[in-house]
Amino acid sequence: MSERPDALLPFPDSARLEADGIRLDGIALSALAAEHGTPLYVYDAASVRSRAEAVAAALRDAPGGGRAAFALKAQSALALLRLIRAAGLGADCASAGEIEAARRAGFDGASLVIHGNAKSDADLRAALDAGAGLVVLDGRDEAQRLAALCRAAGRSQDVLVRIAPGIDVDTHRHIATGHHGSKFGVTPEAGAALLRDLPAGLVGRGLHVHLGSQVLDPEPLVAAARWLPAFAKAEGIPLEVLDVGGGLGIRYTPDQPQPDPGAHTRALVEAIATVCADEGLAVPEIVVEPGRSIVGTAGVTLYRVVGVKTAGDGSTWVAVDGGMGDNLRVGLYGADYAPVLADRPTAEATGRYRIAGRHCESTDVLAEDVPLADPAVGDVIAVPATGAYHQTMAHTYNLFGRPAAVLVDGGAAREITRRETADELFARDV
Ligand SMILES: Cc1ncc(COP(=O)(O)O)c(C=O)c1O
Repeated sequence: MSERPDALLPFPDSARLEADGIRLDGIALSALAAEHGTPLYVYDAASVRSRAEAVAAALRDAPGGGRAAFALKAQSALALLRLIRAAGLGADCASAGEIEAARRAGFDGASLVIHGNAKSDADLRAALDAGAGLVVLDGRDEAQRLAALCRAAGRSQDVLVRIAPGIDVDTHRHIATGHHGSKFGVTPEAGAALLRDLPAGLVGRGLHVHLGSQVLDPEPLVAAARWLPAFAKAEGIPLEVLDVGGGLGIRYTPDQPQPDPGAHTRALVEAIATVCADEGLAVPEIVVEPGRSIVGTAGVTLYRVVGVKTAGDGSTWVAVDGGMGDNLRVGLYGADYAPVLADRPTAEATGRYRIAGRHCESTDVLAEDVPLADPAVGDVIAVPATGAYHQTMAHTYNLFGRPAAVLVDGGAAREITRRETADELFARDV
């Protein structure tokens, strides 16, 4: 067989349909579920590597230089971070914890870009201790606190200022960040004023913008990149570094497009170079912060069916042994997924089913209206496109331990995150 039918479109690059169902890098998903248990996060190393390398390559020829800082909020399993570091990316960290993850994965301090709209002094201290290359300021108060820490440490810190330019992107309103009224960053005018008047100890290098996440039409992201150099020129502020954030979306369901992160990064570089030439400006160093577009497509979550029943309205529930504890995105944003049966993804559907999670919330429904072929207890359900913002958002509601994770690479699978044990669930109780 070894085909890639439509149902497999949102699956990782190495996914193929064989006689025993879907295989990733030659390994059957049903075998992984049997060996490692469910729910289980499975990641395809080749999918991560090719995207990370494509982004790094697109920046290599940027006229003013460029770097990519992978957004750890999307994925922070150390084995995946090491793979991303090896491809040449730095790290975008939004907490002292993410800074620690970056250090443990071996990222160079200078490659760290530090974020957060409400950074504590502990977060800022962790950034200074790590020797972070850039701290992205979210407002004037944070600038004062960081400057005080710098003075106490007898050092300076390169900073950018995050602005919300009021550019809307077509995404869920809960993951739009660059609109007027956003909690992230400051208005362009306030950002320019802050850069002109930074407290002693901070060295202003330029601007940062991140418009939102899961953006499938990248044009507004490129438009923002085009707008920023002209804005900096008009305001007379330095733009040695221009950080255009992340945000490129991925395909969650077969009908969606699959934007190419390498091509998108090349488009950003070209747009910035062109506008700088038009404005007579030196091309700044370009920073990008991709998260989802590097790791999202690499992940599949496996569940075991534990029950099938018909409700009073005639709909049929397929209950699985996971849910909002391992996938918060449905409850947070009403995200859509295209689950399939791992061993017969293309078998003719016997009906349309609702996939119920195991948590005590009516909103814990992984997907609605899913065509499946006679699902039964013991079947493995595979949900593709779960490599970003799943494991990092996992939690222990109802005291279910968080899932294990497995990495497939070079035709072999190895566990990279252990399943959380009952003892670990109570380890903090005193
Ligand atoms: C500042 C910043 N940079 C980068 C990202 C990564 O975004 P994405 O995963 O959509 O590429 C985010 C996500 O929210 C962010 O807030």
